[in-house]
Amino acid sequence: MCPPDCAHMTAMTEAPEAIALPSYREQSPQVAARFQRLRERPVILEVRDVVKHFDSPQGQMVALDRVSFKTHRREFLCVIGASGCGKSTLARLLAGLEELSSGEILLDARPVAGPGPDRGMVCQTYTLFPWLTVLRNVMFGLELSRGVSAITAKSEAQEWIELVGLTEFADLYPHQLSGGMKQRVAIARALANRPRILLMDEPFSALDAQTRAQMQSYLLQIWRQVDITIVFITHDLDEAIYLADRVLVLDAKPGRVRELMEVAVPRPRSPGQFLSPSFIAARRHLEELIHPLSETAEHLPMVRLTKVGDDVE
Ligand SMILES: Nc1ncnc2c1ncn2[C@@H]1O[C@H](COP(=O)(O)OP(=O)(O)O)[C@@H](O)[C@H]1O
Ligand SMILES: [Mg+2]
Repeated sequence: MCPPDCAHMTAMTEAPEAIALPSYREQSPQVAARFQRLRERPVILEVRDVVKHFDSPQGQMVALDRVSFKTHRREFLCVIGASGCGKSTLARLLAGLEELSSGEILLDARPVAGPGPDRGMVCQTYTLFPWLTVLRNVMFGLELSRGVSAITAKSEAQEWIELVGLTEFADLYPHQLSGGMKQRVAIARALANRPRILLMDEPFSALDAQTRAQMQSYLLQIWRQVDITIVFITHDLDEAIYLADRVLVLDAKPGRVRELMEVAVPRPRSPGQFLSPSFIAARRHLEELIHPLSETAEHLPMVRLTKVGDDVE
């Protein structure tokens, strides 16, 4: 028989199954009012029937197929989808680093045609200049793209560095920083150019779990203090729910919009909400969309490499 502690553990791990979850659509009056306010804000980014195909020796491959969505000013939009569904392609199109095959991308009602300072980008890999200090890395874009004087660039850069909590590290070089700190510098550098939207392509996926959780919390704090709209790409469902106002779910091969889901979890967000009914309901829904039940692991052949008699579950 199980000792009492064991029974307690079972009850704890099985609790989410036992709870009657609300629908992922169910919103408290406060959450519904927040979405109402969000819809009333101007549309900053509009993606209209975007198609992107790549030519390969095997023929034409459609990476994105008639993708359409709108993002409102100061919205936090997360984009999720299986690996290879076209998330990075979408980010590169929004950044103007790839050409559209057809369709249109409008930023502040003007078509995007190539890269521009109105879009900042933070990627998974660290893109800082290794020969420049933190301060110089953040100043670099200011002097180059906004053409401000060195004195102005320095004082603005210092403000952004303070915002990401790295003032005491301003004179260090990238190799002297942890992965999380490097990404904070990358965020400061992107924001210093005063973009209208910040594109983030899996920016925390190379970080360990604890640093990643910290970075998510930093990013939410930064977003609350700056007039910025964020398009954040991830394949991590918890990360998407924790951060987003709405989650754009992409289907794979070809990449198509499956759903644009409003996250009913109240703001401000905190890690304690990971176990809240609204969070779990949102997670279940996204799991059903992204990982339908046909688990490949279930089809593995049974090969026994153990001589121990009792079966494990
Ligand atoms: N430059 C390219 N040339 C050819 N195929 C590409 C190119 N970039 C991406 N692809 C293909 O487009 C699809 C989507 O890729 P990507 O946007 O990187 O997906 P994700 O970021 O969702 O993993 C993949 O099948 C990928 O192989
Ligand atoms: Mg990608």
